[in-house]
This record gives sequence, C-alpha cells and structure tokens, in this order.
Amino acid sequence: MAVIAAFAGSAIGLGNIWRFPYLVGENGGAAFILIYIAFTLILSLPIFLAESVIGRSSQANCRAAVGFLVPGRVGQMFGLLMVFTPLWVVSYYSVVGGWSIDYLVQACCLDFVHATPDQLAGGFERFIARPWLPILFHLVFMGITVAVVAFGVKDGIEKFCKWSIPTLFVLIVFLVVYSLTLPGSFKGVEYLLKPDFSKVTAHTFIDALGQSFFSLSLGTGIVITYSSYVKKNENLVVAGVGTAVSDLLFALLAGFAILPAVFSAGIEPGAGPTLIFDTLPYIFSSLAQHAPILSTVASILFFLAIFIAALTSSISLLEVGVAYLTEERGFKRGWACVLLFVLCGAFGTLCSLSFGPLSQVKLFGLNLFDFADSTASNVLMVLGSLISVVLAGWVMPRKALFHELTNGGVLRKNARLFPLILFLLRYVAPIGILMLVLSSVL
Ligand code: PFF
Repeated sequence: MAVIAAFAGSAIGLGNIWRFPYLVGENGGAAFILIYIAFTLILSLPIFLAESVIGRSSQANCRAAVGFLVPGRVGQMFGLLMVFTPLWVVSYYSVVGGWSIDYLVQACCLDFVHATPDQLAGGFERFIARPWLPILFHLVFMGITVAVVAFGVKDGIEKFCKWSIPTLFVLIVFLVVYSLTLPGSFKGVEYLLKPDFSKVTAHTFIDALGQSFFSLSLGTGIVITYSSYVKKNENLVVAGVGTAVSDLLFALLAGFAILPAVFSAGIEPGAGPTLIFDTLPYIFSSLAQHAPILSTVASILFFLAIFIAALTSSISLLEVGVAYLTEERGFKRGWACVLLFVLCGAFGTLCSLSFGPLSQVKLFGLNLFDFADSTASNVLMVLGSLISVVLAGWVMPRKALFHELTNGGVLRKNARLFPLILFLLRYVAPIGILMLVLSSVL
C-alpha cells in the first residue's frame, strides 16, 4: 500500500483537479474523457510498467538507470533529459501550488463567503497581476516541498503520502456530493456523460495523450526513480494498475466536483487554466447567501484538497533531481534540496511574472508559463515516454523484462499477461505515440 500511495501521490495532483476539468471543458466533455481513459489503459499503463521495470531492475537514479541500458553519450543524454523534465515541471507547477495556498488562506479568512459574486468577478486576474504575492506563495510552496523531500524517502515522502492520499479521496467525495446538490448542476453531469464528438479534433487526441502522461507522471524519470526504491518482492503490475485506476478515479471525481459547479454558476467550461480559480470562489460566494457554514467548510476543504494533491506530486518531481545529485554528484541531500530550490524557484518566478509584468514576453506565441506547460506535457514527457518504452520493449533483454514483471517467474498471473504486455510495449505504445505526434505536427 505504501508503494501504491507514493506512486498515486505523484500521479494524483493538479493534473487531476486543475488541468483535467479545464481540458474536459475545452474538448467536448465526455468525448474527451473516453479518449483519455482509452489512452490511459492502452498506452500509459504499459509505459508505466516499462518505467517501473527500468527503475527497479537498476536500483539507481534515473540517469544511471537509463545509462545501464544505453551506454555512452546517447544514454547520458536520455537520462539527463529525464532528470531535467521534472525540474522544468516543478518550477511552474509550484506556481499553481502557490495559488492554492493563497486561495486556502482566503477561504480560511472567509473572503469568499463574505464577498458578493460581483465583487469576486475578475479576482484571479487581480491576484495574478500583483506580482509579489503569487511569487511569495510560489516560494512558500517550493519551500514546503523541499522540506518534505529533505526528510528522505521513508520518513518524508512515504509517510506523507500514506495519510494524505486517503484524506484526499474523502475530501473529493464530499465535494462531489456538495457540487451535485447545487441548483442547475445536472447540466454539468450531462456534459460529463454525453459525448459531443463534433468538438473532437486532432488536437483533442494530443491533449488527451499529454494529459494522460502528465497525470501518471510519465516520461519524467519519476516512475523510474520511485521504482528504484521498490523491493524485489513487490508486484509491479499491481502497483501500476492500482496507480492508474486510482488516478483515473480521482480525475473523474474531480470532474464531477468541478464541472457541475461550473455549470451551476453559469460559467463557460472552456475558460482554460484559470477555470477553477475563477469559478470556485464565485460558487462559494453565491452559495453562502443560503448556506454560509456549508459554503465555508466546502471552500476550505476544496483548496486544502488542491494544496495536498499538488504537494504530493511536487515532492515526486523534486525527488528525481535530488536522487541524481546525491547519487551521481556527491551532494548531501540537504544541499541538493537547497540548490534545486534556488534554480526552480527562480525559473518559477519568471513563469509567475508571465501573468503580469512579463506578459508581453512570448515564445512560439505563448507566455512563459504556457510555454513551460505545453513543452513539458506535449514534448518532453512524450519524448521521455517514447524513450522508456523503446528501452524496456526493445533494448532490455526479454528475459530480464519477464524476470522483473513476474519476480523471477513467481507471479503466475503476471507471467500469463506477459505476452500482452510485451505486445503493447513493443508495438502499440511506440507506434501510437509516434502517430499522435505526427498527426499533431502535420
Ligand atoms: N502527475 C501530477 C499531476 O497530475 O498533477 C503532476 C506531475 C507529477 C507531472 C510529476 C509530471 C510529473 F513528472
């Protein structure tokens, strides 16, 4: 359970609560969800298994793990790419984590329930345009992440995830019930259940694939790094399926917590990344007029859930870099944490400023924050996943793969599943990824 909790802690995060609902909103509701589920089962789960096999068989940080399979410069580059990606992600991820702290503070100060919905309109833009406060909260969030990671894997990460993941599930179920009782929420339920295929384009597929990779933390060295700590008698297939299922379930619950509330407030579901931060305060304030206590409790729990989910993921993102620096570069754990705090804190600060003073700075037509997010999920993670799947499916000897997945032939069920897993790893996953990438580029 501790293994699944740690993997699920990495998987369940802002991707589920913040990213998934707005992507569903932008891409036609249920149609996007169906494509997303299919990708998770057919492509992402095998990639997860590939990465966990690479990690556990090497018992080393992700640079070294990749280096065992591909010696020389190329292996070095692949490995470093997988160390770089999570550090790139955690920089902007912790900006959003910082927003969740600010909103949690506002919820505790009863700011949402005391304001009228009109006073709250545009609140997110006002918050984000004042540059210092978001930067301060971003650094506070990074600081908390660094503190947990500094305690190490067993005392910090495992302990934290073991209590926080069950707590998160309880919170989100409460919020679904709350959301479904709001007036007019059934339109949101309909949106989540009735597919509108007319909104599906090539971009929907790449968005769904990117989200599936993002949500399961694939192609980032995280699964490799965490798996290197997994004992030889654990069942990797069970850990993979357990993680994928809990991640899917949590994303769906988050969808049912947020979109019915969005519809109830009469807000446009395709509002993009600011969706939950724009709409939730508005919803809490409207409800406060009839049920102030319920609305207060719900607002605090909501932002608490977002904060905890973000933290369990950012911990995993940072751990990849810390494992590399301590195992390969001779750093003490504490110093590795400090160095990464400075680097990621600085880049995250620039991302945060891209909503205010740096909004005119554009790369490929995107502000820095959007550029960081789209390069991470649509390029770096896809590339990392492709590398993992090719390494496990084609480079690693078939016998070694079988040995890891079945614990030396002991796990009979896994042995029976092996031909299917191998087929998915060798053919379906790489070809599927390549086709999707080409279709989005052409
Ligand atoms: N999986 C996390 C989420 O869904 O929020 C985010 C994440 C963690 C993305 C780790 C990438 C990653 F490497």
